[in-house]
Amino acid sequence: SGGSLTMRVFVDCDPGIDDAVALAYLAARPDVEIAGVGAVFGNNAVEVTADNALRLLELYGRPDVPVAVGCARPLVQEPRLAPHVHGTNGLGEVELPEPARKPVAESAPELLVRLARENPGELDVLAVGPLTNLAVAVGMEPKLPQLVRKLVVMGGAVSTPGNVGPHGEANIVNDPEAAETVFGAGFDLDLVALDVTMGTVATPEWLAELALVPGDKAQHTTGFLDFYADFYSRIYGVRQCAMHDPLAAAVLVDPRLVTGSFEAPIRVETAGTLTRGMTVADRRPVPSTDERRPVRVVTSVADAEFLRLMLDALR
Ligand code: RIB
Ligand code: CA
Repeated sequence: SGGSLTMRVFVDCDPGIDDAVALAYLAARPDVEIAGVGAVFGNNAVEVTADNALRLLELYGRPDVPVAVGCARPLVQEPRLAPHVHGTNGLGEVELPEPARKPVAESAPELLVRLARENPGELDVLAVGPLTNLAVAVGMEPKLPQLVRKLVVMGGAVSTPGNVGPHGEANIVNDPEAAETVFGAGFDLDLVALDVTMGTVATPEWLAELALVPGDKAQHTTGFLDFYADFYSRIYGVRQCAMHDPLAAAVLVDPRLVTGSFEAPIRVETAGTLTRGMTVADRRPVPSTDERRPVRVVTSVADAEFLRLMLDALR
């Protein structure tokens, strides 16, 4: 990363079971400094996702990372949470110990903007929840896309079915206006969409191996993923689960895991009932008339290696 040994990462998230595994992965990497965590509404209310972030950072051995509360609702629409996917507490009903700390006084967009200004060209951003905090941060600091080194987003369904509608993926549908702002802001942006995450699963064998790993870190994570696999087994027909957010974290830290991708400008449809929140890539072979900076859409990854990295991180 930019020649320096340590990557400095801001994580914007809505933990959330797969968000938790993404944090576990980053926390286990000695070459990653988690500079800050922003919480956003999404899988649960923002007070809950912020509290979960504090608990998870203690569980995964990074008790000093600042956690900032972000947006409680989307820019335009009403919030919609996902207790049926992530449990009523956002962590599959697993009760982690009360956190020893509180969130910081700054809001998540304020923390992100300050860290980006203090580390120009050196801060990476991983966004694995609705993009509201990022859109607000761009509003506060329009040069954010130039200050940040790279942004990796988990979200969207580009050439594949959605998960909350025919074309809609949860993170984007939860705030289409915010997503449209972020895709148009000019970031160096890698998109890890359902196109690749639905095929990158924690298999029954992988989950069984994790369940045998002793210690709180692996055992609590097994508890989260048990709940997640219950939900996803209705989709896959076997007890396994998609690894959306951890895959985005891995793509940020280990870009060599990416084995296939394409580049295209992406716009988020904000109209329609069937198309609101759809991520539309302009892939016409004739030169695109869209002046928007293209996004790199990841289409395939080295999944065996990815799963091995995840297991190592949880050991
Ligand atoms: O669609 C998958 C995304 O939405 C993930 O970030 C997951 O945490 C859910 O909220
Ligand atoms: Ca998430």
